[in-house]
Amino acid sequence: MLSILIFSIFLISSINAINLPRQIEKIGSPVYIACVSDSKISSLIQNLPINATTKEECSSKCSLSFENDLSFFKQNTNECYCTFLNDSPTSDEIVYSIDEKGNCRLNDDTSVEYLKSLYKISTCILPPISISSSNFTSNNPVECLINCPNDTTQSIAIRPEYNDDSDKFQYECSCFDNNQITGGQQLDCGFGIETIYVRA
Ligand SMILES: *[C@@H]1O[C@H](CO)[C@@H](O)[C@H](O)[C@H]1NC(C)=O
Ligand SMILES: *[C@@H]1O[C@H](CO)[C@@H](O)[C@H](O)[C@H]1NC(C)=O
Ligand SMILES: *[C@@H]1O[C@H](CO)[C@@H](O)[C@H](O)[C@H]1NC(C)=O
Repeated sequence: MLSILIFSIFLISSINAINLPRQIEKIGSPVYIACVSDSKISSLIQNLPINATTKEECSSKCSLSFENDLSFFKQNTNECYCTFLNDSPTSDEIVYSIDEKGNCRLNDDTSVEYLKSLYKISTCILPPISISSSNFTSNNPVECLINCPNDTTQSIAIRPEYNDDSDKFQYECSCFDNNQITGGQQLDCGFGIETIYVRA
C-alpha cells in the first residue's frame, strides 16, 4: 500500500515536471558577423526599422524577442532591423570593417550582428592560420558559430572566400580546441581575412 502511494506521488510529480512551462532562456550574446553596404537592407525579410542610437542598443532591442537571430544597424540614420538567419550576408555581400574588431564605417555601411553567440570577437588576422581541430565550409557565417562542436571548441576562425573549384562564394569555418590561433598580422575584418572568435 505504501509503495503504491509512493509510486503515485512519484508519478504525479513527474507529470507535473513534464507540464511545467518551458523556461525561456537567453542563449549567448550579440557578436559581429559582417559589415555590409546599406543596399543590403532593402532585401531583408523583416525590413521595418526600429530606432536605436548605437549598434549595442540595436542588438539589445532585437534580443528582446528570442525569435530574432540577427540585427542590422545603419549608423548614419540610426535605423535598426531585427531579423532572421536567412538574411545572413553571403561572402560576396560583405565589405571591409574599419578595424580589426569588426566596427563598420559610419556613413555607407551597416553592421550585422548574430544575437545568440557563445563566442565573442577577438581580432581579425591575415591567413594562413595554425592547423584547426576541424573545419568545414558554409554559405552562412552563423553556421560557423553554431556548428563547431560545443563541448570542445575554444575558438573559431571564419574566413569569407571564393572557391575556384566550386565557383562559389562561401565561408571557411575552422574550429579549435585551444585559444591559441596564430596567423599573419592584424587587419580590418573582411573578405579573405580570418575573423577570430573566442569562447565568451
Ligand atoms: C524614431 O525616430 C524618429 C526620428 O527621430 C521619430 O520621428 C519616431 O517617432 C521614432 N520612432 C519610435 C518608434 O520611437
Ligand atoms: C582542415 O582540415 C583538413 C583535414 O581535416 C586539414 O588538412 C587542413 O589543414 C585544415 N585546414 C585548416 C585551415 O585548418
Ligand atoms: C551549440 O549550442 C548552441 C546554443 O545552445 C546550439 O544552437 C547549437 O546547435 C549547438 N551546436 C552543436 C554542434 O551542438
